[in-house]
Amino acid sequence: MKGIILAGGRGTRLDPVTRAISKHLLPVYDKPMVYYPLTTLMLAGIREFLLISTPSHLPLYRDLLGDGRDWGIDIEYAEQSKPRGLAEAFIIGEEFIGSDSVALILGDNVLYGNQLVERLRSARNFESGGHIFSYRVDDPENYGVIEFDDDGDIENIVEKPENPPSNDAVIGLYFYDDDVVDIAKSLEPSGRGELEITGVNNAYLDRGALTVTRFGRGMAWLDMGTPEGLQQASNFIATVEKRQGVKIAAPEEVAWRSGWIDTDELMKLTEDLHREDYIAYLQRLPDVSEPGLD
Ligand code: TTP
Repeated sequence: MKGIILAGGRGTRLDPVTRAISKHLLPVYDKPMVYYPLTTLMLAGIREFLLISTPSHLPLYRDLLGDGRDWGIDIEYAEQSKPRGLAEAFIIGEEFIGSDSVALILGDNVLYGNQLVERLRSARNFESGGHIFSYRVDDPENYGVIEFDDDGDIENIVEKPENPPSNDAVIGLYFYDDDVVDIAKSLEPSGRGELEITGVNNAYLDRGALTVTRFGRGMAWLDMGTPEGLQQASNFIATVEKRQGVKIAAPEEVAWRSGWIDTDELMKLTEDLHREDYIAYLQRLPDVSEPGLD
């Protein structure tokens, strides 16, 4: 499975903060926002990435992340000239996806919680079709919302409904087979002029090929698209990191724990870092018995 990180868009809800800088480079406590979705896909076992952003912001991501080799992964880059919707990622990424399955993650989503790795890895094993993730929210009208039937299967998905059929929002993480490219190409732009991801999901649903993992309250799903969301995410990450003495979303650690870089390579990476606590944390990793990836 390959991974696409979508880091374009306008970021208008964070204006004027995002007038000159990409939303996904803003700090979320002690790391750039994009580290969080990137490491989520790394935790799912994905090693080949395409990062999509605007023409003006793309060079900044190249500066920050490079080709990924230091972290045992491969990162390619592609432009989205205008925010024409989430589903355009699959058209832009057609060549990158090839005949593989693909995970799309939105650059402003944080996922953290119990058994995340296990659940991502088992969802990854789907044979064909699409697999999405849902989370109970208090404001479903701001999201794609799932209507479930009595058996707990998906009946319908509605985008930002005035009268939500449930509180189960679709998270900004989607797994699809390679049919997604043709499905995305067949979509018509919505009323707001975007190729909607809900259109992709409903196309899979029509084929009877859409499944869902429902995350419960042991999981945190944070959307960092607003000033409040950004601050809440920073506070959340800071609280967990300080309390437990762990780092959330450190790509060096995920790469090392996944066995993609060895201990010597991990130590070498610390030579290029400048923050004492981050360096000390990575240097300590081989010596402490940590719970592992989850
Ligand atoms: P949104 O939150 O829908 O849009 P946005 O980030 O531009 O923010 P705002 O609503 O404040 O203007 O986007 C969700 C994520 O997807 C976000 O990380 C940006 C990204 N995105 C793209 O990369 N391309 C797109 O065409 C769209 C619509 C979003």
